Amino acid sequence: MKFFIDTANLEQIKEAQDLGILDGVTTNPSLMAKEGISGDENVFNHYKAICEIVDGDVSAEVIATDFEGMVKEGEHLASLHPQIVVKVPAIKEGIKAIKHFTNKGIRTNCTLIFSAGQALLAAKAGATYVSPFIGRLDDTSTEGMRLIEDIRLIYDNYAFDTQILAASVRHTMHIIQCAEVGSDVMTGPLSAIVGLLKHPLTDNGLAQFLADHAKVNA
Ligand code: E4P
Repeated sequence: MKFFIDTANLEQIKEAQDLGILDGVTTNPSLMAKEGISGDENVFNHYKAICEIVDGDVSAEVIATDFEGMVKEGEHLASLHPQIVVKVPAIKEGIKAIKHFTNKGIRTNCTLIFSAGQALLAAKAGATYVSPFIGRLDDTSTEGMRLIEDIRLIYDNYAFDTQILAASVRHTMHIIQCAEVGSDVMTGPLSAIVGLLKHPLTDNGLAQFLADHAKVNA
């Protein structure tokens, strides 16, 4: 399973990249706003800065919601850097835009996926990735992981190339379950990624090893 980090924070992206396990980055307008990035040129430069840190795909989201606007914005975003993947919402105009980008060889991430039907249409339009938001489904007492399983089944039935990018990952169990059900990618916060390493028996065991070593090597 590929590991993407879900942030626009350059320090956190660097930290995840330094771990050596990072495969890409996802951003959205809320995450850009959280970093205080505003104005077209600043936003474009920030995407380029992210691409300079990581080796993998970097999702950059369009703001327009009409077909022409999405196409104009998406083509510009894609021209910024070869690692950019254009993120498009799962709405009617978005599916049309994804088909347009697919025909032009521009890679896409269909975002705000909350149903298997949306994922099916996005795959038919040729999306590179679909982003089902599992945490936000869990927030509404609907099991988000079930959606990943449903999409996995549908994509495998028809051998769609579209990759399932589990988004809105909130904690370590989400990551483990994504891997269990065969998500192609997960995107989550740095805390959940490094949280996978946490185990008191590891910490205690290491402390004991070092103490025993120190005893005979004083
Ligand atoms: C992913 O592409 C989205 O930007 C993100 O995962 C949404 O996560 P949230 O529900 O924690 O805001």
